[in-house]
Amino acid sequence: MGKDVIVACDFSSKEAVMNFLDKFENEKPFVKIGMELYYAEGPAIVKEIKDRGHKIFLDLKLHDIPNTVKKAMSVLARLGVDMCNVHAGGTVAMMEAAVEGLTREDGTRPLIIAVTQLTSTSQERMTQDLLINEPIDKVVMHYAANAKKAGLDGVVCSPLEAGKVHEVCGDSFVTVTPGVRFADGDVGDQVRVMTPAQAKAIGSDYIVVGRPITAAEDPVAAYKRCVEEFVG
Ligand code: C5P
Repeated sequence: MGKDVIVACDFSSKEAVMNFLDKFENEKPFVKIGMELYYAEGPAIVKEIKDRGHKIFLDLKLHDIPNTVKKAMSVLARLGVDMCNVHAGGTVAMMEAAVEGLTREDGTRPLIIAVTQLTSTSQERMTQDLLINEPIDKVVMHYAANAKKAGLDGVVCSPLEAGKVHEVCGDSFVTVTPGVRFADGDVGDQVRVMTPAQAKAIGSDYIVVGRPITAAEDPVAAYKRCVEEFVG
């Protein structure tokens, strides 16, 4: 799996995201489109960014009954996204249905990864609200193993979990890790962070980087620095 930097384009309008992407003349970063931009602008935004030559990670975190997820995934596959995701909490059957729906007639499909437990869910909330009485790291690894069993390509996880996920699910199981910050940069609201170089050392396959690039004075230079540190 080729290592790459995915830029989280957390903008609320087409105008804002295009202003940002216009700064990139020679590079074509892998772009993450989240719920905010997708719900504001609809599927057309995926096609427009794709047509500019970017790969797209569509971060919609599907979680519904298997049949609904399967049908929604076949729509996303036709949109031409390169990576998409589901909640592993939807069960192995739901994840299998997602892979089935995503697979095009010629047998090709975008990468599909699972969200295990959201990093915003603490041990305490998982135990009390979700009634899951196991240590959170065990739950994360179990959900990752379920995703592998269902035929998914990998998981979203913190850079701190990437090494363990590879131990449990194998080196070819993809780890996509947010929570990346430059050593001399602002941490913002992220709690457990790693630098691109540390994420590389620990074995992350893709890093998802938002504000260190989107809010930088020179976003292109920040993107290049990330690529240099992470891909080398
Ligand atoms: O701006 P920043 O680099 O913190 O952006 C990180 C991106 O990764 C955001 O789009 C955020 O929603 C996403 N993300 C995250 N932590 C997770 C899952 C996704 O920060 N556990």
